[in-house]
Amino acid sequence: MILTALTCLTPSWFIKTLPAHSSRAVIKVMVSSILTSLFLGFAFLTLSGVNAVVPPPRPSVPKIEALDAPVTSRNGTTLPPYTTVYEFDQVIDHDNPSLGTFKQRFWFTYEFYEPGGPIILFTPGEVSGDGYSGYLTNRTINGQIAQQQNGSAIVLEHRFFGLSNPKPDLTVASLRLLTIQQAIDDLEYFANNVHLPMPGGDSVPPGKAEWILVGGSYSGALTSWAMVNKPGLFKAGYASSAVVETILDYWGYFEPIRQNMPKNCSADVEAVISHIDQVLMGTDKNAITNLLTQFGMQALSNHLDDAAGALRNNLWDWQSLSPSTGTEGAFFKFCDALEVKNGKSASASGWGLDHALSAWATYWKNTYMPQLCGKNDVVDCLGSYDATQDYYTNTTVNNSNRSWFWMVCNEVGFLQESAPTGHPTLVSRLIQPIYDERQCQFMFPAAFSKPPTIDVEVTNIKYKGWDVSIDRLFFANGVRDPWREATVSADGVNVPSTSQQPIAVSDGFHCSDLSTANANVDSTVKAVQVQALQFMKSWITPTTSSSPSAPQYHYFKRDPNPIVHTQAMEEDVEPLRGIRWLKDTL
Ligand SMILES: *[C@@H]1O[C@H](CO)[C@@H](O)[C@H](O)[C@H]1NC(C)=O
Ligand SMILES: *[C@@H]1O[C@H](CO)[C@@H](O)[C@H](O)[C@H]1NC(C)=O
Ligand SMILES: *[C@@H]1O[C@H](CO)[C@@H](O)[C@H](O)[C@H]1NC(C)=O
Ligand SMILES: *[C@@H]1O[C@H](CO)[C@@H](O)[C@H](O)[C@H]1NC(C)=O
Ligand SMILES: *[C@@H]1O[C@H](CO)[C@@H](O)[C@H](O)[C@H]1NC(C)=O
Ligand SMILES: *[C@@H]1O[C@H](CO)[C@@H](O)[C@H](O)[C@H]1NC(C)=O
Ligand SMILES: *[C@@H]1O[C@H](CO)[C@@H](O)[C@H](O)[C@H]1NC(C)=O
Repeated sequence: MILTALTCLTPSWFIKTLPAHSSRAVIKVMVSSILTSLFLGFAFLTLSGVNAVVPPPRPSVPKIEALDAPVTSRNGTTLPPYTTVYEFDQVIDHDNPSLGTFKQRFWFTYEFYEPGGPIILFTPGEVSGDGYSGYLTNRTINGQIAQQQNGSAIVLEHRFFGLSNPKPDLTVASLRLLTIQQAIDDLEYFANNVHLPMPGGDSVPPGKAEWILVGGSYSGALTSWAMVNKPGLFKAGYASSAVVETILDYWGYFEPIRQNMPKNCSADVEAVISHIDQVLMGTDKNAITNLLTQFGMQALSNHLDDAAGALRNNLWDWQSLSPSTGTEGAFFKFCDALEVKNGKSASASGWGLDHALSAWATYWKNTYMPQLCGKNDVVDCLGSYDATQDYYTNTTVNNSNRSWFWMVCNEVGFLQESAPTGHPTLVSRLIQPIYDERQCQFMFPAAFSKPPTIDVEVTNIKYKGWDVSIDRLFFANGVRDPWREATVSADGVNVPSTSQQPIAVSDGFHCSDLSTANANVDSTVKAVQVQALQFMKSWITPTTSSSPSAPQYHYFKRDPNPIVHTQAMEEDVEPLRGIRWLKDTL
C-alpha cells in the first residue's frame, strides 16, 4: 500500500506546476491511470463515549449567530427574530420533479429592505443551518450589503444537511440526490418560487428583483458554480475562500499553514515528520514500537498510517484561526509546546529533532490526545480500519460529516495528504489518497465495491473551476487560508482580477472577510469588504414595479437523462446545454 501510494506523489506535484488548462488533461490521465484508491482522515473525539471518528476539517463557513430577539426595521416596525425558522417546499429531484417536495429550512429578515431592493441569498453549505443567523445581519458582509443596498437577506440550508433532507436517511440510495447540480437547481427553484415572509414577498423572483448570491468556502465555490451554470439568475455574487477548483490530492491544504506558521515550529514539525517516516517505513520493529509508545499510540501498531496521519490534527487546528481571535487557539498552544523550553523560544531554525520529537510526543500523549479522544480508546478514536464503526455505518440525518463525505467521494475530493516527494511536508508521506479513498468504500459500500477513483475533473469541466469568467462576481480570499490553494488566488494559477470579476485578497484566514468582527481588527480584511461594497453599489440598481420586468434570465431545461460521469459524456455536456439554453432563449 505504501508503495502504491508513493507513486502518486510525482504526478501531483508535476500537475501543480502546469498552467490550469493543460493540467486538466494531465490530471485526468494521471487520475484514471494511477489511482485506484481512497479517502480521508479521521481522528476523533470525544466526550460522548460513542465511537467517534473525527474527520478532517471541511471547507465550511464559520458559524456566526445573531441575537435571538425581535428585530426592529428601519421604520420602527417589529419583525420576527433572526432565528425564526421558515420552510420552503423544495423539489426532491430536479431530474424527476414528479417525486414531489421536501421541507427546506431557511432564515430570513427584511430589516433593511425597501421595495425595489435586492434579495441576498446565502447558504452555509455543508453544515446544519443552525447557528448561522448572523449571516442575516450586519455582523457579516451579507448584512452589510443588505444595509447598503436596502436588501433583504436569506440563509438557506443546503439539501442533505441539518434538517433539510429530501429523504429520511443518509443511505446511499438517498444520497444519490446529493449532487452539486441538485444543490444549484435548489437555488434556482427557491429563487423563482419562494414567497418571502414580508409584504410583497411573493413577487420578487429574479427578473422582478435583483438577486445576489453570497457564499464562503464550499458554498463560495457553489456561488461561482451556480453563476456559471445558471447565467443571468443572479445579478451579482460574493464568493469568499471559494474552493472553485476541485482537487483530488489536496496536499496544498498545508502550504499556507507551512508558509505562515512560526518558522521555528515549521522547521521542527518537518524534522519530526521526516524522522517518523524514516522509522515507520523502516524495518526496525523495536524502533517503531518505541516511537509509537512515546506518543501513546502503541495500540495502532497494525496501522502505522493511522498513527502518523493522526498528527495532522495539530495542523488542522490552523483552520479555526481568525484575525479576531489573534494568537489564541489550539494551533499556537501546539507550537508553544514544541518551541518554548524553560521559558525560552527557539530561534527560527527550531530546537532540532531531539527536543522537538520528545516535546511533541509528550504534548500529544499527555495533553492533546486526551482532549481529542475523551473516553474513547486510541483505536476507536484514531483508527480508520474498522468498517463497523458508527462513524461509517450511522445513516441518521443531520450528520454533516457523512453527507459531506459523500460529496468528497463523488465530486470534490480535497483529500488532505502529504506533500509530493522533494517538497517540504508537515504531513507523513504514509498519508496518500488511497488512505482516504478506502474510507469512501467503508462508508458507502453500496456505492463503492472498491476504493473509488474520485473524478474531480468532471466537476472542474462542468463548473469551470479556475477558468471561471463571470460578470459581477467578487472573489475574496485570505493569504493564510488553508483552502487558498483551491481558490482563484492559489499559488501559480494567475486568474486575472478584473472590474467584472474582481479578486481581493486580505491577510486573513478561512472566510475571514465574511465577518464584520474580523474587519474591525484587521485593516486588510476591512479593505476587502469596502471594495466589495463599492462593487455591489455599482452593480445593483433598485428595481421598481414600473420598470420593465422582462426576465433577463431564461430557464433552460436539463437533460432528463441522468448524467453519466464519464469523460467522453461530460465533454459533451457543456456545449449541448449551451445549445439548449440558446434555443429556449429564442
Ligand atoms: C414599515 O416597514 C414595513 C416593512 O418594511 C412596512 O410593511 C410598513 O408599511 C412600513 N410602515 C411605514 C409606516 O412606513
Ligand atoms: C448594524 O445593524 C444594526 C441594526 O440591526 C444597527 O443598529 C447598527 O448601527 C448597524 N451597524 C453599522 C456599523 O452600521
Ligand atoms: C435605500 O432607501 C433609502 C430610503 O429609505 C434611500 O434614500 C436610498 O437611496 C436607498 N438606497 C439604495 C441604494 O437604494
Ligand atoms: C518560535 O516559537 C514561539 C513559540 O511558539 C513563537 O512565539 C515565535 O514567534 C517563534 N519564533 C520564530 C522566529 O519562529
Ligand atoms: C446515529 O447518530 C445519531 C445522531 O447523529 C444518534 O442519535 C444515534 O444514536 C446513532 N445511532 C447509533 C446506532 O449509534
Ligand atoms: C443538528 O446538528 C447540529 C450540528 O451538529 C445541531 O446544532 C442541531 O441541534 C442538530 N439538530 C437536531 C434537530 O438534532
Ligand atoms: C463531525 O465531525 C466533527 C469534527 O470535525 C465533530 O465535532 C462532530 O461531532 C461530527 N458530527 C457528527 C454528527 O458525528
